Amino acid sequence: MKPMCGIVGYIGQKQAQNILLEGLRKLEYRGYDSAGIAVYNDGKLNVKKTKGPLSALQQLTDKDPLSGEMGIGHTRWATHGKPSDENSHPHMDEKQQFSIVHNGIIENYLDIKEELQEKGYTFASETDTEVIAHLLSELYDGDLVSTVQKAVKRMEGAYALAIANVMEPDKLVAVRLASPLIVGVGDGENFIASDIPAILEHTRDVYVLNDGEMAVLTQDRVELFTTDGTPVNRDMLHVTWDAATAEKDGYEHFMLKEIHEQPKAIRDTLAARLKEGVVDLSREISLTPEELKRFDKVHIVACGTAYHAGLIGKSVIESLVRIPVEVDIASEYRYRNPILTPSTLVIVISQSGETADTLAALREAKQAGARVLGITNVVGSSVAREADEVLMTWAGPEIAVASTKAYTSQLIAIYLLGLYLARVLGTQPEEQLLEVTEALPRLSEQVKSILEDHGSIRKFAEKIAQHENLFFIGRGLDYPVVLEGSLKLKEISYIHSEAYAAGELKHGTLALIEEGIPVIALATQQAVHDKMVSNIIEVKARGAHVLGLGLEGRTDLDRSVDEHITIPETLSLLTPVLSVIPLQLLAYYTSTARGINVDKPRNLAKSVTVE
Ligand code: AGP
Repeated sequence: MKPMCGIVGYIGQKQAQNILLEGLRKLEYRGYDSAGIAVYNDGKLNVKKTKGPLSALQQLTDKDPLSGEMGIGHTRWATHGKPSDENSHPHMDEKQQFSIVHNGIIENYLDIKEELQEKGYTFASETDTEVIAHLLSELYDGDLVSTVQKAVKRMEGAYALAIANVMEPDKLVAVRLASPLIVGVGDGENFIASDIPAILEHTRDVYVLNDGEMAVLTQDRVELFTTDGTPVNRDMLHVTWDAATAEKDGYEHFMLKEIHEQPKAIRDTLAARLKEGVVDLSREISLTPEELKRFDKVHIVACGTAYHAGLIGKSVIESLVRIPVEVDIASEYRYRNPILTPSTLVIVISQSGETADTLAALREAKQAGARVLGITNVVGSSVAREADEVLMTWAGPEIAVASTKAYTSQLIAIYLLGLYLARVLGTQPEEQLLEVTEALPRLSEQVKSILEDHGSIRKFAEKIAQHENLFFIGRGLDYPVVLEGSLKLKEISYIHSEAYAAGELKHGTLALIEEGIPVIALATQQAVHDKMVSNIIEVKARGAHVLGLGLEGRTDLDRSVDEHITIPETLSLLTPVLSVIPLQLLAYYTSTARGINVDKPRNLAKSVTVE
């Protein structure tokens, strides 16, 4: 499901253009790679849309304003079709009767598109959304509402829609399924929006649509129905938040909001790729099984948090696909003259898709004849454009500098890749793959349960906020996770924390363990659990204050630590998606306890586009 775009709609007595643009400005955190509006005037829906941030659209409308009192608007986070003028919304049908803005993904859009093309329809864009405009035109029966209801029956996936039409310009229709949508109720005017910030300036009275519901708006009325036509009675919500808080969905910081968006980011990144226990990436990865069989080595290259996801990737691909994997920090990789051949698969991981060192590594690998697969969160980014193969994460825009939901989505993408390669190359028995594909979808709810109860993490954070130094330890797959936990803490709390493979401590670092120093110990890996417990006892013996993070039901850890936090049980291979959550929260609450600007920590940028 498309994580995020921003949609707005207005019908009233005022000029719609600036109300739509202002609403989109408040939704730009949802997507900012292209934008557009359509305004009804004198029998026509006039559209202005362009690639680039909202300011580009503003320039267009400054030059040639659109007049009219009804319209819709959109700010995009590309999924189907790169950011371009043609792919930006609104989309129209050929007769220019319907105009659509959409947030979500129509999973069966290719089937509907082929069917319409056979009937002679031609398409102007690569998007799934444009299919809806032509479908409405095909199904139009003289009544907008019943036409929309018929079209909805044909569409699979997630969608929040605002629909305008020239035949019934006194109406706007909004439809919701699995993407957020609200209707704002004004005096002689009404609004549609993906989120509250867009309309707060005009009204604080809103209807929140539920899945499978639609709203029909006129200037002075809002009617709610289910998409099969049953009237819906619903109390209006009166919003008391200010705009800034609303942009963060009521969370104090974007980082906390994004931490809480992980259950959805995991579901979205899994969706349409994992069906009935089978992972299918053949629509995204064009490499044939024969070509995949030729790879004898994998290089994973990335920076920062993405590099930590790469370290998990090594274990996943080596254990499932049995191909040797090397993992490199991009700034080192590009100068170490790596051994690259046409049978090397290079995987670059980058949330932004614009990190200079990772891009340089990508280009170097391609030059050396290797095949490059990019895992990125931004459609149309340099990595997405330059890699030979692309596997998108659907985490949605990540605003906070400290990466959280992009990291867990990268892990999901890596599991999907490992499972797909193992199935295509036949390197694991079906039943073993099934065990993993059955556990994967449960992660979303398990993350949710961790997020619902994090009081003890917060308390521990307030304690460590007093310290200037601390350690993280872990073994096996817990080691890359503590590296990530330590990075999160460093970058937003400015505490000097080090993460170590627990077995390595006694080779030197143990000398730094002294009375009262906090140690965060991850013990989720069954195979090395007892070894991990002995390492914990080692640091305890030197006076460390230990927070142990283990699996529900494993009580033996309790005896060895000062404070104990548990995560739901899952396969050892999958625990990194769960065990990182408490560490993200720990960093967040330590940072707030130290009064630091969590979303914009000192000396750091969200995307490092220089070497
Ligand atoms: C993580 O919290 C940091 N923002 C940083 O380490 C980041 O992961 C790194 O700069 C890589 O960014 P990318 O994923 O956009 O390439």
